[in-house]
Amino acid sequence: MKICILGGTGSMGTGLTSRWVLNHDIFIGSRSLGKAQGIAQRLRRLAQGFYQSEQKGSVTGLENRDAIGEAEVVVVCFPPKATVPALFDLKDHFSGDQIIVSTVVPMTRRNKLYYFSSMGEGEKSAAEVVQELVAPIPVVSAMQTVPAAYLNNIDAILNLDVLVAGDDEVSVAVVSRLIRGIPNLRPLKVGPLVNSKFIEAITPLLLNAAILNGLHDPSIRIVPWFPTPE
Ligand SMILES: NC(=O)c1ccc[n+]([C@@H]2O[C@H](COP(=O)([O-])OP(=O)(O)OC[C@H]3O[C@@H](n4cnc5c(N)ncnc54)[C@H](OP(=O)(O)O)[C@@H]3O)[C@@H](O)[C@H]2O)c1
Repeated sequence: MKICILGGTGSMGTGLTSRWVLNHDIFIGSRSLGKAQGIAQRLRRLAQGFYQSEQKGSVTGLENRDAIGEAEVVVVCFPPKATVPALFDLKDHFSGDQIIVSTVVPMTRRNKLYYFSSMGEGEKSAAEVVQELVAPIPVVSAMQTVPAAYLNNIDAILNLDVLVAGDDEVSVAVVSRLIRGIPNLRPLKVGPLVNSKFIEAITPLLLNAAILNGLHDPSIRIVPWFPTPE
């Protein structure tokens, strides 16, 4: 697929790019063309060295608005506070046949611990706020509990579950396939987009667990992991 990553020069963007470039064409978006091109060049070298002849995808660095134009799937990787103003500026560049993925975790840090802090009026999740901005283009919520450090460690293979919420079944299926394409990530549907607030709220808990219990980059796995017999 053709995948745009908005704010793709950050750690989440580079992590997703280094995994998805095996099979997909990635357009890293940035406010700065030069920065996007520099990161794209670094990731191209990394991918060529690691995947060698297996690699089917490519990495291109562009300004955010131009990266959107190239993509079937647009992944929002802006910091929480930048998400609404940045998407507001970019929303005219989206097209109706795209799918938007929100990875955004709105949270604040107080006294060394993290707290989920919902966005907008009505205590909404980041994904719901993104959906309001880009409607009627479907938004899927995913990847909030996957540490960027894990994705960037290109040969790390961990058994992680990725909770996926969305109102449009076809879009959820497309994003789930992209997640399954990363070794040992298992996408799990958790219902409509309104449930994104529960996914997003897991991340501050994981970070607090790391801080209070001396863990590195904790993530989640739902047990039991065998399918329930019919
Ligand atoms: N890091 C993780 O482990 C992790 C895990 C799960 C989910 N997430 C979520 O993924 C998203 C990205 O995380 P990250 O750690 O990659 O973030 P980040 O490194 O802080 O920022 C990502 C990129 O956003 C762009 N940006 C920064 N301020 C901006 C602004 N005011 N307007 C427009 N663009 C701006 C920057 O790109 P340019 O300077 O190139 O424009 C930056 O490289 C966040 O919403 C986070 O909650 C992160």
